[in-house]
Amino acid sequence: MLDISFSKSALPKTGALVLLVDDHLTADLLPATDEATGGAISRAFAAAEFKGKAGTTCVILAPGAGLSRVVAVGIGKADALTGKIAEEAGGHAVVHLNRDAAATVAAGGLTVELAAHVALGAALRSYRFDRYRTTEKAEDKPKLAKLAVLAASPAKAKEAWVPLKAIADGVVLTRDLVSEPANILNPAEMADRCRALESLGLKVEVLGPKELTKLGFGALLGVSQGSANEPRVVVMQWHGLSGEPVKPKKGAKAEPRPQPVAFIGKGVTFDTGGISIKPAGGMEDMKWDMAGAGAVVGLMAALAGRRAKVDAVGIVGLVENMPSGTAMRPGDVVKSYSGQTIEVLNTDAEGRLVLADVLAYCAATYNPRFMVDLATLTGAMIVSLGHEYGGFFSNDDTLAQQLHAAGEATGELLWRLPLADAYDKQLKSDIADMKNITGRPGSAITAAQFIKRFVGSTTWAHLDVAGVVWSTKDAATTPKGATAYGVRLLDRLVADHYEG
Ligand code: BES
Ligand code: MN
Ligand code: ZN
Repeated sequence: MLDISFSKSALPKTGALVLLVDDHLTADLLPATDEATGGAISRAFAAAEFKGKAGTTCVILAPGAGLSRVVAVGIGKADALTGKIAEEAGGHAVVHLNRDAAATVAAGGLTVELAAHVALGAALRSYRFDRYRTTEKAEDKPKLAKLAVLAASPAKAKEAWVPLKAIADGVVLTRDLVSEPANILNPAEMADRCRALESLGLKVEVLGPKELTKLGFGALLGVSQGSANEPRVVVMQWHGLSGEPVKPKKGAKAEPRPQPVAFIGKGVTFDTGGISIKPAGGMEDMKWDMAGAGAVVGLMAALAGRRAKVDAVGIVGLVENMPSGTAMRPGDVVKSYSGQTIEVLNTDAEGRLVLADVLAYCAATYNPRFMVDLATLTGAMIVSLGHEYGGFFSNDDTLAQQLHAAGEATGELLWRLPLADAYDKQLKSDIADMKNITGRPGSAITAAQFIKRFVGSTTWAHLDVAGVVWSTKDAATTPKGATAYGVRLLDRLVADHYEG
């Protein structure tokens, strides 16, 4: 990731300079730069009709004074500047900094918090997954490695940056996981990468086929049984409030512990559909059918990385959904962890089978304050909300309201859809407790109703993120590809309501 540092405001002598310009055309170091370059900056603003509107940029090449370029980024009304606008400004800036090894952002006019958010936007937008490009010429690679952010109080800005850097690291981890092809990232490999998070102080436990069989994860194992790659369930725990649980002395009662918050992710490392196989066109997208799990892993890394004052558990159900001689058949009946039986009428409705077992296990084992699951669950959710909002469902209005607000604050937007008995009735099976599909009408909702049957009385929300975890176009702080949607959203939920 971009190497970010903070220092006192002073005109740099080389490299690129980013000016954050408000709609009165005022900016830290603007007068000094303009003077040093003989008025080149104000002439360029006039010629480009640059007015400092948020989202606009004006690039001035070789303006003099030793600078390679000045990138002016509009931030709009100075008194309406938010963390989100500051991040977007940082993101817009780095797009124009590919040809410089080092750049300076003049953020001395901003609060230290906002300066740190500019750094976050720059870090997030400069993400690139280039592990498999072996023939790319050095001159074609983006050069930017160092970003110096000028701030009124560099020490305080750095303090504000520390937790944001942990969030950025979590986002990068998620994007790496989601970008990996499925021949590399199978369930065992993803579990290994989760295990590596022990270095952050997370407690990581990996359940393999033996343990899962013993525990009775019949629905998840049904999905997995057609694949040559074994399933894994990974439990990641962060004890930011209570520290590691202490084993009680013989005969003594265990200390009462705070209830953890819990996050559950669908981790289908590849979804062919199974015997109910998907059409060939676009099937490669199903490498990111583990993006819900990817977000949970990045979120847990972020919470641990910033030492969040919360007890949290993250559980991911990792399987590959393949057709084969050992695969589950349409019509098969599986027994879930909860004891409820499921008639599998379509093996492509596999995500809900994975979530059913993991959610029931989480509720029974960790007594969480709430469970939030993330899953690329239905194409129907993409039809409903497109690629702008994730859809969600909840059995609790307070949690729903908190999630919605966290979405607005981070830009990872969420829209609530209903749960109701009339939808639930459609899950009735002729042979088992329920079937795993319904008709097409409302099928993102009926999928949520299916999952609801496995959460019991636990406070819960289900985020169907099928439309928002992968993007085919660049956005301000998210280059095209894996977005890591959910990491910042849920980190914010925790920070605003569940810490301390
Ligand atoms: N992983 C898919 C959902 C999906 C589709 C995510 C496209 C992202 C892009 C899921 O497992 C699935 O196949 N869902 C089916 C359910 C149907 C068989 C009831 C769907 O949405 O078509
Ligand atoms: Mn599927
Ligand atoms: Zn799927």
